[in-house]
Amino acid sequence: MSAHVAVLPSTVADQIAAGEVVERPASVVKELAENALDAGARHVRVEIEDGGRTLIRVSDDGEGMDREDAQLAVQRHATSKIRAAADLVGVGSFGFRGEALPAIASVARFELETSPDGATGTRLRVTGGAPDAPQDAVRQRGTTVTVRGLFFNTPARRKFLRAPATETRVATEALTVLALARPDVAFSLQVDGRVVLDVPVATRRIDRIQALWGRPFADTLLGVTHRSGPLEVTGFAQRPAQATPAGRKGYVFVRGRAVRDPFVLRAAEAGYRSTVNPGDRPSLLVFLDLPGDAVDVNVHPAKLEVRFRDKFFVEQAVEQAVRAALAPLAAASPLMAPGRTVDAAAWSGGSAAVPVQAPLELLAAESGPASASGRPGLPLLQVFDTYVLFQTDAGVAIVDQHSAHERVLYEQVMGQIAGDGMPGQRLLLPLTLELTAAELEAIDAHAEFLRRVGYEIEPFSGRSVVVHTVPNPHPRFDAARCLQELVADLAGGRFGGWANRLERFAATFACRAAVKAGQRLEPGELRELVVRLLAATLPAHDVHGRPTIVHLPREELERRFGRT
Ligand SMILES: Nc1ncnc2c1ncn2[C@@H]1O[C@H](COP(=O)(O)OP(=O)(O)O)[C@@H](O)[C@H]1O
Ligand SMILES: [Mg+2]
Repeated sequence: MSAHVAVLPSTVADQIAAGEVVERPASVVKELAENALDAGARHVRVEIEDGGRTLIRVSDDGEGMDREDAQLAVQRHATSKIRAAADLVGVGSFGFRGEALPAIASVARFELETSPDGATGTRLRVTGGAPDAPQDAVRQRGTTVTVRGLFFNTPARRKFLRAPATETRVATEALTVLALARPDVAFSLQVDGRVVLDVPVATRRIDRIQALWGRPFADTLLGVTHRSGPLEVTGFAQRPAQATPAGRKGYVFVRGRAVRDPFVLRAAEAGYRSTVNPGDRPSLLVFLDLPGDAVDVNVHPAKLEVRFRDKFFVEQAVEQAVRAALAPLAAASPLMAPGRTVDAAAWSGGSAAVPVQAPLELLAAESGPASASGRPGLPLLQVFDTYVLFQTDAGVAIVDQHSAHERVLYEQVMGQIAGDGMPGQRLLLPLTLELTAAELEAIDAHAEFLRRVGYEIEPFSGRSVVVHTVPNPHPRFDAARCLQELVADLAGGRFGGWANRLERFAATFACRAAVKAGQRLEPGELRELVVRLLAATLPAHDVHGRPTIVHLPREELERRFGRT
């Protein structure tokens, strides 16, 4: 009766493995292109036809294989990349399981042409797992794998293929991800004879991004660089003002390998707290580098997932990294002619230090010909009673007075609520306000927050309340109107996208209490506003994801006036 249990013939085992590794044409593209990269290719060329059903071809100029290796390569668990289980720790190659080639060859008409030296070459055909005798082939150093009739012998799987356009899109995406991971390698993709992707070798990652998606998109990105102990977080985070509710790009790479990790992306999004409109989803490209033993890459057959030894630590670091990228004034939008990029370093001096400190010091000085510090104060100009202009070391800054004040108040209020609060100004004649039932409830629910920003409120009779003290964020502050609007917002669910109650309250208060556009400000007030903005933690964005400040780089002025 022991005849019930039998070791599967290897072709059947390969087809089963193919079920995990070769889900669709995109997986074939991914596995073959990864092999090309592992072989040290400088240029990876991919062709697909009919969404990959009729043809997938991946050619490389990598190290190639001699005949013996080529024959081994199409056998299950044959790999040149690891020798023992211990090698899995910190494995640096894309492949290591040794199952892609046999799996693909078991469900298609497979042909491999390879040469290790450009002199000798081998052609190997495998049809549905059955290999033909190897033949001589003439070709340059490198390897070409051609896959025809994918799933020809597994009709059930073929039925699951989607429309060619869909399969093409997914396959293109798979190659795009590899192109992001390896800017040092050129990639091209032809779909039904048409070139849809062709990116040259790039030295900087941002150049690769630009080659893939164009300069306008690349220009919306801020660089991320952050180190937390053994973990290095780099990549790009989109400026909050350019984030949109749909169509964002979100990529996570761990030790150079693309992974699906919604938690890392969520942590990156958390870094945007209070700088982005809650409905908007900024594009994110997160590259994590950490020691090999801090992450297990072998938890998924297609290696799309990894397991971190300390997930919480990684998420924290990612959040901090994004927050740090949004913090400098350089995170504000530069005013440039279309198609021109600002050299971020020119305005940030590599870090926020140069242009922030210089104007701060100058601004803090009393205006007039010579202040106590012996330096003249930096002139500020209010235009349209809405914007404040001033000079920085790197150009001209233009601040939106409402947005700027909103940011300043938000940070102040967060501090006040977390601490003891700020006593309000006692009114000689207390205010009486008539409110709706929902608004009264909102006052109740936020009583402590209101007290800490300076509103001392008491129920009066029916639906009215008496207000004894009020905050005084600026001389033109209208305490009654602000409170009315604030409770209406809180009761009406405005800012509903904010997850955190305290942050939502602070954002609503900041928005309602800030100076408005169209208010003329005194020179001293302008100065104070700008000084406080530049001293804020996240000065470049208001709480709705709009910029507080735009910058006209001096180099742009010089270019426009022909001084360069
Ligand atoms: N394009 C290529 N160039 C050179 N060698 C290759 C190429 N593709 C596959 N190989 C060889 O074939 C082996 C098996 O490939 P594969 O089945 O994808 O397994 P893995 O990549 O996990 O090792 C690889 O380890 C490598 O030695
Ligand atoms: Mg492989």
